[in-house]
Amino acid sequence: MKRIQYHRYGGPEEMRLEDFELDRPMAGQIVVRVKAAAANPVDWKIRNGALKFMTGRRFPRAMGSDFSGVVEAVGPSVTRFNVGDDVLGTLPAKAGGAFADRLMADEKVVILKPAALSFEQAATLPIVGVTAWRGLVDKARLQRGQSVFVHGCLGGVGRMATQLAKSLGADVSGSCRATAMDDARVMGLNRVVDYRQFSAETLQGQFDVVFDTAGTLSLRDGRTLLKPGGVVLDISPSPGKLLGLFLSRQHKLVVAKISTEVLTKVAEVAATGRLRSEIGKTVPLAMAIPALTALEKQGTPQGKLVITWGQS
Ligand SMILES: NC(=O)c1ccc[n+]([C@@H]2O[C@H](COP(=O)([O-])OP(=O)(O)OC[C@H]3O[C@@H](n4cnc5c(N)ncnc54)[C@H](OP(=O)(O)O)[C@@H]3O)[C@@H](O)[C@H]2O)c1
Repeated sequence: MKRIQYHRYGGPEEMRLEDFELDRPMAGQIVVRVKAAAANPVDWKIRNGALKFMTGRRFPRAMGSDFSGVVEAVGPSVTRFNVGDDVLGTLPAKAGGAFADRLMADEKVVILKPAALSFEQAATLPIVGVTAWRGLVDKARLQRGQSVFVHGCLGGVGRMATQLAKSLGADVSGSCRATAMDDARVMGLNRVVDYRQFSAETLQGQFDVVFDTAGTLSLRDGRTLLKPGGVVLDISPSPGKLLGLFLSRQHKLVVAKISTEVLTKVAEVAATGRLRSEIGKTVPLAMAIPALTALEKQGTPQGKLVITWGQS
């Protein structure tokens, strides 16, 4: 079996495609033959050591969170899955291991894949879809007819937030880089602004929900955009913003807490075609390290990077 792993925290040069062994699944665990995995910024944040207070110092550490695939073995007491089921899910930051041909997952982070979704589309959903849902539905309690501003609307989370808000009946505007504004308009945004020329005053008091996916809006700018009673959602605040965010009643930190319930709802909306990731590049596992390195260095995702394992 092969997977991408690293033997110490550090930059892209630490990634290795290496052999590994899986144990037999324990109670509540399943083994999945991976068909596709999708990259998220958290994958390299973990490898860089930014979350080592959580992820510890045991090496080698496997990379990758979001995946889809086929159940190959089930542990004792697993009742929700059978060998041969098509599934999607995400591995906790502490474990990793989706950039592989096989993985072990707790059944609590896995759901059945809707037949309408390809393995590639399914793999892109968990982190970005659950983050958008946790923000708009759980934290902001978005209602039909409300207005939403998505800062960074063409990123992985931004696209999900935009489409989910629209599917919930909201009127959506957002920001992206100047050269990509047509792509944003294609998604049906009402108003699109260039985030480099952004001035909150020009959109003062217009939104019930501001979803800052980039984490770059100042606390003041976020508040400026809000209607009375509105809320700013932040998923990636800088350390300097954290205290102000916790003290503010108008700001909420959103965390992609995975549950099969929320993931199922996200997958159901995706299966209707109303929630869809843009896939920028698909590469086989053997070519994934250069693709991950380029994405991380370039920092301008042209859609999701999906890693596939061709064997059926
Ligand atoms: N709290 C959580 O649980 C959670 C969950 C998911 C993600 N996150 C974090 O949230 C962030 C976004 O995740 P993602 O998957 O959406 O990343 P992504 O796919 O890399 O997208 C980031 C987007 O932000 C845009 N952007 C960059 N600088 C900007 C600025 N100054 N103003 C407005 N937009 C800007 C980028 O546009 P350009 O490419 O055109 O520059 C890109 O479209 C990451 O830091 C990620 O780690 C947190």
